[in-house]
Amino acid sequence: MRTPIIAGNWKMNMTIAEGVALVEALTGALQGVTGAEAVVCPPFTLLKPIADALAGGGIKLGAQDMCWEAKGAYTGQISATMLKDVCCTYVILGHSERRGRFGSIPADWDDDLLLAFGDNDTVVNRKVKAALAAGLIPIMCCGETLDERERGITDEVVASQIRAGLNDLSATQVAGMVIAYEPVWAIGTGKVCDPTEGNRVIGIIRATVRALLGDAAADAVRIQYGGSATPDNIAEIMAQPEIDGALVGGASLKPAFAVMVKTAAG
Ligand code: 13P
Repeated sequence: MRTPIIAGNWKMNMTIAEGVALVEALTGALQGVTGAEAVVCPPFTLLKPIADALAGGGIKLGAQDMCWEAKGAYTGQISATMLKDVCCTYVILGHSERRGRFGSIPADWDDDLLLAFGDNDTVVNRKVKAALAAGLIPIMCCGETLDERERGITDEVVASQIRAGLNDLSATQVAGMVIAYEPVWAIGTGKVCDPTEGNRVIGIIRATVRALLGDAAADAVRIQYGGSATPDNIAEIMAQPEIDGALVGGASLKPAFAVMVKTAAG
């Protein structure tokens, strides 16, 4: 049995005071709730105060990104060791908001964020390896853009992100990981992917892991859905057999995030 996992990706939101108030409310609301894991992933500057506020409670801490290098002259970067140092258990890697798709930014750039950031599958694979080596659990994201979905290549895009992101990892390493399927067009848009379609694509992801690393890894790896998940639709999402949880953006910024964890806990 895979334990459901509901993770809140706070993205670039919250001050320290707001974040501490939120996790205090969540800790109170989730008192005695077992059967699902709850994770919050604040921005870097909030990690230490949130770790302190969570100490002794059941909610786990995650970061939103990290560098694959261990230390050195990498201005602005944060290492896996630094994340362990502030008590992170998880780290989100390869989120679509960090993945650059086509390299260069055109002169008439329309502010499409996918063009602005640099992660690609090779970088994501390096980050996953560095996180595992440091004892962090990666939440490795994948997902197709609207254009890719409309061109009918969703399954190939996602399977190729999985194969590349998990390159050179062992079955044991992948068994302990979390993968998040986040269709890019469903993120922050209010257009949740139909849960049966989410379930279908997550089935493809699990089949890809099975082909790469065998049954034990495929049956153990937890695969979340992400993209406009809310307290209103989480029950339908969690009812899908392949879906082991949710990676939640906007709805994780409110105390009602606890309702999502409780629903997943059953
Ligand atoms: P929303 O839940 O705001 O759509 O964001 C999803 C997401 O990107 C989580 O990582």
